Amino acid sequence: MTTLLHIDASASADSTSRRLTARFAERWRAAHGDAGYRHRDVAADPFPPLGPGYPALGQRVERAGAVALADVAGFAESDAERHEWALTRPLVDEVLAAGTILLGVPMYNLAIPAALKAWIDRITFPGAFTDPATGAARLAATHVVVVTARGGAYGPDTPRHGFDFQEPYLRAYLTNLGVPEANQAFVHAEMTRAADVPALRPFVALGERSLAAAEARVDELAAQRSAAATSSTVMA
Ligand SMILES: Cc1cc2nc3c(=O)[nH]c(=O)nc-3n(C[C@H](O)[C@H](O)[C@H](O)COP(=O)(O)O)c2cc1C
Repeated sequence: MTTLLHIDASASADSTSRRLTARFAERWRAAHGDAGYRHRDVAADPFPPLGPGYPALGQRVERAGAVALADVAGFAESDAERHEWALTRPLVDEVLAAGTILLGVPMYNLAIPAALKAWIDRITFPGAFTDPATGAARLAATHVVVVTARGGAYGPDTPRHGFDFQEPYLRAYLTNLGVPEANQAFVHAEMTRAADVPALRPFVALGERSLAAAEARVDELAAQRSAAATSSTVMA
């Protein structure tokens, strides 16, 4: 698989997470071109909240057991359900096609932005990421790179470590989805607001160091994922 699915979720035009994911994507595209590159901006182009047709269709599919994606449409019993599936299926296909998924995630109120959660809720349709024939996880070979930006600092050695509901949530979600923990990488740019917020000014240098470390890690991960995509293309 030589596909990069790049999702940005910041509402800000001057966004650290966007700059970092763009840096990753530029490096990946320099190696692989644009054919396998897909960018979605879930903040600028948000998905509608789930309507009642989504859980109705999902629950009917769950009751039927293992259902192939191609057969889900046949379970829809109303225009509302058909509409929900028409919105959902292309997004599921994008995720399944991706060798690497790159998520740009600003911290909003200790967690992920609602726009990203709307995408997560939509793609996570019952059974979509399980092979109906074998029960195996369909994302077992997928890599996910999560780049977060936080106004403050939440690392293990900070007083606010227990307030980080981004990384623990996304780790649990991705693991539950079938992405192996070894295939999940997290990069954090912290103290992004240190220069603006008076109480955080003592931490400006910390913010600069965090950003420099995040840029270096993004470069490293972009090189790794690009090389892996190249070798999978050569082997295919
Ligand atoms: C709605 C909103 C909520 C925020 N909540 C937090 C928060 O809980 N903790 C924090 O450290 N920073 C918080 N921030 C600051 C952002 O995490 C920070 O500006 C970060 O750089 C945003 O990512 P971006 O630069 O990619 O947009 C918040 C910002 C906004 C707009």
